[in-house]
Amino acid sequence: MRSLFSPSARWLVTIAGLSLLAGGAIAVALFALRVRTEPVRADNAVGDATCLSCHQQKASFEQTAHRLTSRPPTRDAIAGSFTPGANVLRTSNPYLHFRMDSTATGFFQTAVMGRAPDTSTRSERIDFVTGSRKGQSYLYWHAGDLLYQLPVSYWTGVGWVNSPGYPDGTQNFERPIPPRCLECHASGFRTVAASPSVINRYGRTGVILGITCETCHGAGQEHVRRERSPLHAVLPPAIVNPARLARPRQLDGCALCHGGVAAPRTPAFSYVPGQPLERQVEWWARRDTGAVDVHGNQVALLERSRCFRSSLMTCATCHDVHRQQRDLVGFSDRCLTCHSAQSCGLFPRLGHGLVGRCVDCHMPALTSTTIVSTSLGRQMRVQVRTHWIKVYPQFRVP
Ligand code: HEC
Ligand code: HEC
Ligand code: HEC
Ligand code: HEC
Ligand code: HEC
Ligand code: HEC
Ligand code: HEC
Repeated sequence: MRSLFSPSARWLVTIAGLSLLAGGAIAVALFALRVRTEPVRADNAVGDATCLSCHQQKASFEQTAHRLTSRPPTRDAIAGSFTPGANVLRTSNPYLHFRMDSTATGFFQTAVMGRAPDTSTRSERIDFVTGSRKGQSYLYWHAGDLLYQLPVSYWTGVGWVNSPGYPDGTQNFERPIPPRCLECHASGFRTVAASPSVINRYGRTGVILGITCETCHGAGQEHVRRERSPLHAVLPPAIVNPARLARPRQLDGCALCHGGVAAPRTPAFSYVPGQPLERQVEWWARRDTGAVDVHGNQVALLERSRCFRSSLMTCATCHDVHRQQRDLVGFSDRCLTCHSAQSCGLFPRLGHGLVGRCVDCHMPALTSTTIVSTSLGRQMRVQVRTHWIKVYPQFRVP
């Protein structure tokens, strides 16, 4: 019987078969070598500018509170005023006031003690700014590599205030910044192993300020290498897309910073997006008290809601973290993806006037009992949007 192929064609088929096999073997090897996404560090981060060179549609992220939550000190970044007159914080102690100065060498907070001409001062430079919306606190380096909080903070709508929790009329430059604080407000700080009593020693290099793309998606070096490689179709993406994760892992990615107070089990900045968060932190019993705590604890509050328990809701049901969202009517529209205005008990009385206002009554802004700043006898407390979606009796109509 005549062969289907001529001898030369048979060769070609054999070569094609062999190359297919070889290609397969390479693909298998690459798959075995596949890179697990790592926590972001200065040596494996590519930075937002590189991500945005391909993902331009996410450029709005650069103006969000996440991105701006820690910054170097600039006139733009610091919300408080340095204008003479407006740059002083008086205290209930007539022998103590604070002065904020902008000079050629930087921005400073100075505690002025005593009465002129017999005054003594302590001055420290603002080295980092944290916060962008409700308020700001300022951090400074001391003795080279120790990081502390400054005594004066800024409160939107008020101005310079005593830092939250600081007694009015005292000057305290001694509050250390623990790694967990930086883990929630930055992308990378290198803890320098010290004695157990020193919790605030960090490397001065390798600092990555702000929450960056890679905080939530994992270090991007391998992903970028893949996307630039001619073999990209066979290489694994090497980047985490939270939308593809199981629901508890999606929530973990936000709970790292929105889960309230927790005791760390591992060093800060070791969480890998997509991995279970329990390996990283141990939640305190008070995690689920139903109260809005110091930093909101949006995850535990949402988990209490019937909406959450009876659906597959995640944070992404309402939030797109890649852009700034400040429109309460827009949020209320999210409710209508599962409810109708008619399902509200007040519909018979208020009708379609409820539309656009669902959030006002079912997720009201409540007062935090933990972020308190006292200035000249006046107490200021932060308002936090509760994420426990339910009926609040104060909005019942008699
Ligand atoms: C060289 C261009 C390029 C760069 C730089 C780049 N990406 Fe991508 N990225 C892509 C392409 C193309 C895809 C789609 C890949 C696919 O569908 O297989 C993608 C997909 C993704 C996905 C979705 C993955 C999935 O499994 O659905 C995420 C998340 C992502 N990129 C984040 C990032 C982040 C964060 C950075 C910066 C660290 C970054 N990208 C840098 C080109 C790039
Ligand atoms: C690394 C810590 C961290 C992670 C992870 C994180 N957040 Fe945040 N988030 C913050 C901090 C800090 C702020 C407050 C920033 C500020 O105002 O300075 C914030 C603010 C917000 C805000 C308010 C933004 C505004 O403009 O009012 C929303 C909404 C939010 N986060 C949602 C999320 C969601 C959803 C996730 C998970 C996909 C998430 N965050 C993951 C730390 C984090
Ligand atoms: C568990 C994570 C976490 C820790 C730890 C943490 N924060 Fe926050 N912080 C947040 C989140 C989340 C918000 C936003 C809360 C909200 O708007 O409900 C926030 C808000 C703030 C704000 C107000 C920001 C704004 O724009 O409104 C400041 C200032 C701040 N934190 C400073 C600090 C400092 C300083 C420390 C450490 C001494 C610290 N935080 C510790 C997560 C954290
Ligand atoms: C606070 C966490 C967080 C940060 C920071 C963040 N992302 Fe995302 N990203 C998410 C989440 C959550 C999703 C999944 C959204 C969903 O479920 O629809 C996502 C999805 C994506 C996707 C998948 C495709 C898509 O459009 O849904 C890309 C690409 C992406 N992000 C790129 C970026 C880039 C680039 C940056 C920085 C400029 C960035 N992300 C910053 C949380 C984050
Ligand atoms: C992903 C779907 C989904 C979204 C989005 C959603 N809900 Fe729900 N909600 C539900 C489900 C399911 C229930 C339970 C209904 C039941 O058990 O009969 C529920 C229950 C409720 C309840 C009754 C709570 C209780 O404790 O009795 C209220 C009030 C409510 N939702 C209001 C809202 C508001 C306001 C919004 C927008 C801020 C919203 N929901 C968004 C799915 C959703
Ligand atoms: C049913 C819709 C909905 C869901 C789901 C949701 N949020 Fe929100 N979130 C809101 C609304 C509405 C606001 C108020 C926005 C404003 O006041 O500008 C808000 C505000 C916030 C803020 C700013 C808090 C403040 O007091 O300024 C943070 C932080 C936040 N959400 C985090 C989360 C996280 C984390 C998740 C997931 C656990 C989540 N949200 C799920 C609707 C939602
Ligand atoms: C003015 C405040 C207010 C506004 C605005 C409002 N609600 Fe309500 N809602 C209530 C009160 C109060 C109840 C309880 C009524 C009762 O039990 O008599 C309720 C009940 C509900 C319930 C039923 C809870 C149950 O008993 O199972 C749902 C669902 C609901 N609202 C959804 C919505 C949605 C969706 C919107 C926006 C279209 C909305 N509400 C707007 C105050 C409000």
